[in-house]
Amino acid sequence: MFRSNTCGELRLTDAGKEVTLAGWVQRVRKMGGLTFVDLRDRYGITQVVCDSSSDAALTESANHLGREFVVQVKGKVAERTAKNPNIPTGDIEIIADSIKVLNTSEVPPFTIEDDTDGGDDLRMRYRYLDLRRAPVRRNLELRHRMTMEVRRYLDSKGFLEIETPMLVGSTPEGARDFVVPSRMNPGQFYALPQSPQTLKQLLMVSGMDRYFQIVKCFRDEDLRADRQPEFTQIDCEMSFIEQNDVIELFEGMAKHLFKEIRGIELTEPFIRMPWADAMKYYGSDKPDIRFGMKFVELMDVLKGHGFSVFDNAAYIGGICAKGAAHYTRKQLDALTDFVKRPQIGAKGMVYARIGEDGTVKSSVDKFYTQEVLQQMAKAMDAEPGDLILILSGDDAMRTRKQLCELRLEMGRQLGLRDKNQFACLWVVDFPMFEWSDEEQRLMAMHHPFTHPKDEDIPMLDTDPAAVRADAYDMVINGVEVGGGSIRIHDAALQAKMFEILGFTPEKAQEQFGFLMNAFKFGAPPHGGLAYGLDRWVSLFAGLDSIRDCIAFPKNNSGRDVMLDAPAALDQKQLDELNLALNLPEEK
Ligand code: AMO
Repeated sequence: MFRSNTCGELRLTDAGKEVTLAGWVQRVRKMGGLTFVDLRDRYGITQVVCDSSSDAALTESANHLGREFVVQVKGKVAERTAKNPNIPTGDIEIIADSIKVLNTSEVPPFTIEDDTDGGDDLRMRYRYLDLRRAPVRRNLELRHRMTMEVRRYLDSKGFLEIETPMLVGSTPEGARDFVVPSRMNPGQFYALPQSPQTLKQLLMVSGMDRYFQIVKCFRDEDLRADRQPEFTQIDCEMSFIEQNDVIELFEGMAKHLFKEIRGIELTEPFIRMPWADAMKYYGSDKPDIRFGMKFVELMDVLKGHGFSVFDNAAYIGGICAKGAAHYTRKQLDALTDFVKRPQIGAKGMVYARIGEDGTVKSSVDKFYTQEVLQQMAKAMDAEPGDLILILSGDDAMRTRKQLCELRLEMGRQLGLRDKNQFACLWVVDFPMFEWSDEEQRLMAMHHPFTHPKDEDIPMLDTDPAAVRADAYDMVINGVEVGGGSIRIHDAALQAKMFEILGFTPEKAQEQFGFLMNAFKFGAPPHGGLAYGLDRWVSLFAGLDSIRDCIAFPKNNSGRDVMLDAPAALDQKQLDELNLALNLPEEK
């Protein structure tokens, strides 16, 4: 028997037992005639003691142990005199009879403890060592438990787990594709799937009725804390359903996960907020509703009083921070600097404090009478002690997005974005299309297979920009954790959609002929959704970046610094693939 127990399971009730443990040496400490070794494995840490008075040879071998040596320890479980209440095995220790070194280790490049001295890059380079650390390992354990619960829930609802190919065709809509050259088909490329969207729809045409897959997706887009070039979706599709059926089933899954993983019972139905309201009140299609501070439009109150910035604005909006009138001039200047940062782009910020006696003192007092300022305070439901912050601009949508950033920052500063509190909602009724300045055409906001709302279909011909879709996103704490839609299952409507998106019939046939042809053979009404697994896990683990719940993530430049990928190919491989490089000249 290699080991009788793990390093995380022995307790006081085991005292007196002869045991064999195996693991990594986390630390060696000498105290008088005793040598203490902290032995670690996936399950925990157990203290091992070598007593030089009883066995000099043993102490000698213990003294030669280095950090991260792999050892096998035989000994007896004993009650500790100095107990450690911080670890589950803290009441006991192993009085060692023998320590066998199974493998030595070089000194690791950073300390492998909960609080490490290793910087980000170093830890990523040696990710396999980083993964020995309990906080990182716990994130992977959580991820495992979540995927198990997802499978359990979906299996109980009759879903079939079906794999779809990773080598597929490139699709022009959406993000950029990662492409793979085909050796056997010179000059031709596969693409890695951005999602199995069309394939899961074909499975509905096949009559699979309920499909799911926990699946890798690939998108060549700029990276952020909640985006990786390869990430995992819980991808689902159902037939013979309406939007409400999908929402209820996946809200059920969210509640199941909250209960099983976080022990939180969510009994109320999630709010369903139309996209237009989300933009109006929060300036975002993924509002963080853990706190209020809803936008109040102030055009009627503040325009036309001689303050040219507001007089010329297409939008003036404010937020009311409860009890924040104590903000100093310095803090307010810092907030102004915050909204003026290039990433946010506001020109300035106006503020007003409501004094204890109810008078309003603002940064634009010279343009406004106390009466107008009082009207403003009333419009904002502001009370004595509150702080009002106002932004304006000549583009309403852009200004709302700036105000959204300010609201989130205020929420953060006031401690209203507690990671252990969860606010879930559905954002529904998304617009079908959005205008792309880059492409100078309408693009599908969700994807081109999304069904327009029945009542808006007549507007496809007259005012496509006003058409809403049967599309929905689930948002938790300001993070889009999933999204989906009811799909078009009619070949003619699908063809029309491609036409509005600027595809010629030939181009649509070339790109999506396989789907439109399939729709000619009895496609059932269908719809679905995909949850972002990485985002769910990082929310539940309270992480700032999804990287921390991925075993081997990419860095912000899309590199795996451990594998040193991507990397150049040698000429032989390029030749085999019939590829010639055309690199920009080095500057
Ligand atoms: P969508 O593009 O909204 O929908 O993706 C679904 C969910 O996947 C997660 N996600 C990501 N997570 C990490 N890194 C990324 N780069 C990334 N991109 C997306 C998000 C998102 O909500 N086929 C449709 C789904 C459907 O309609 O059924 C789709 O892919 O949590």
